[in-house]
Amino acid sequence: MPSHFGKEIIYKDMEGFFIVGGNKLKGEVRMDSAKNSLLPIIACCILIEDEVELVNVPKYSDVLTMCEILCHLGGKAEFKGDNLYIDCRGIDKNCIPNELSSSVRSSIFTLGPILGRMKSAKVAYPGGCDIGLRPIDLHLKGIRELGAKVVEKNGYIYANGGNLTAGEIVLTFPSVGATENLMMLALSIPGQTRIYGGAQEPEIGDLQRFINACGGSVSGGRGNFIVVDGGRKLHGASFEAMPDRIETGTYIIATAMCGGEVALKNASLETNGALAMKMLKTSCKIEQKGDTIIVQSSGRPESFGEIETAVYPGFPTDLQAQMTALAGVSEGYSLIIENLFEARSKHVGELMKMGYDIRAKNGITIVKGRDRIFGADVTSPDLRGGAALVLAGLCAEGYTTIDNIKLVDRGYYKMEEKLRALGGDIKRLEIEKRRC
Ligand code: UD1
Repeated sequence: MPSHFGKEIIYKDMEGFFIVGGNKLKGEVRMDSAKNSLLPIIACCILIEDEVELVNVPKYSDVLTMCEILCHLGGKAEFKGDNLYIDCRGIDKNCIPNELSSSVRSSIFTLGPILGRMKSAKVAYPGGCDIGLRPIDLHLKGIRELGAKVVEKNGYIYANGGNLTAGEIVLTFPSVGATENLMMLALSIPGQTRIYGGAQEPEIGDLQRFINACGGSVSGGRGNFIVVDGGRKLHGASFEAMPDRIETGTYIIATAMCGGEVALKNASLETNGALAMKMLKTSCKIEQKGDTIIVQSSGRPESFGEIETAVYPGFPTDLQAQMTALAGVSEGYSLIIENLFEARSKHVGELMKMGYDIRAKNGITIVKGRDRIFGADVTSPDLRGGAALVLAGLCAEGYTTIDNIKLVDRGYYKMEEKLRALGGDIKRLEIEKRRC
């Protein structure tokens, strides 16, 4: 490390949010297509030797990384306006190096499709937000059950698919990623594969819709028994992914915290039932009108009581941090139990810098609501934790700076522009970190 002793060093490489809190939110904003639909859909394109048009794709940084991965494999992925055009006819590699794989969790979704198409794959372990161990044993067990030989060595997963055979797989836990990976691998294997105990998240149904639009045959993709009739040649299609239910939930919670009236277009309560039930307990009113959700909130919210994260249709872990932010400004106590990821409470320490009254241990968080919170300099710990800090900043007295927002950009596109359109005082700036 170079010695700069006695000199001022300025680090300019990090973008941050600068927020002046206290404004109510008012107006209309459109929700983007779901990140968690788009990532497996982009991976699935590896199996399609034709052009695919994905309509209205936000440039989430995770989406851009998945495009880079396809290009590295020999495919093409190009934005024209808001649409993403993918052509994987030219894929001729089967390896994803650590530099690419380790920056996103969703790189693991390519294992099934690469193996299915190339009959062998070498993929470095996935990365993604630091919210716990995030093992991939269920992906690998399922792939082995379909006949692949899998070896883990030197940070890579080597899979050989010379003997792939359609069959039955039982998932012992309904992992979203494993369900999707196995669905995609099964598509490439002639015959019927049945997946029992799969996850039921709506994004899995969306992947099924995409596959079927491309000539594949998957049924039950939003139930825990999924049937894939594999071996059909897939063709290109034009497809628009479902609205992002986590972005929708984040804006509902933001409105509950800041007060005001917001119309969320391209949004559905159908996929946000667990959140809607909890919001009934606060003073917030939520109503679906066509493809729009209207959220109204005035006065200090009541506590939502308790939430316990669970697989769909339970309360989504991806809204846990934002609910913690809400709990801290609500009347009374709230209890939050995180069951899915063991290290998903790193936002708690940052919220406490803003005056939050929180006790947290082993995934259990108790929050005593306060009538005043204060701006502070904080750091985004992960994607959803960063979003929680944005909500707290919008609601706090004074100004807040949040650095490390590249993590927020993984799953929210132009968040500051959308919030500004609603009257939030938030801008993106280059944060200068000074040390003497
Ligand atoms: C997906 C979502 C993520 C969300 C999560 C849970 C995407 C791109 N990401 O992540 O936003 O927070 O679902 O709703 O869709 N597990 C194992 N072994 C495995 C796989 C998972 O033990 O092989 C465990 C995980 O550690 C975790 C739980 O299963 O405790 C759920 O993980 P999973 O459903 O696989 O989440 P992801 O697909 O990684």
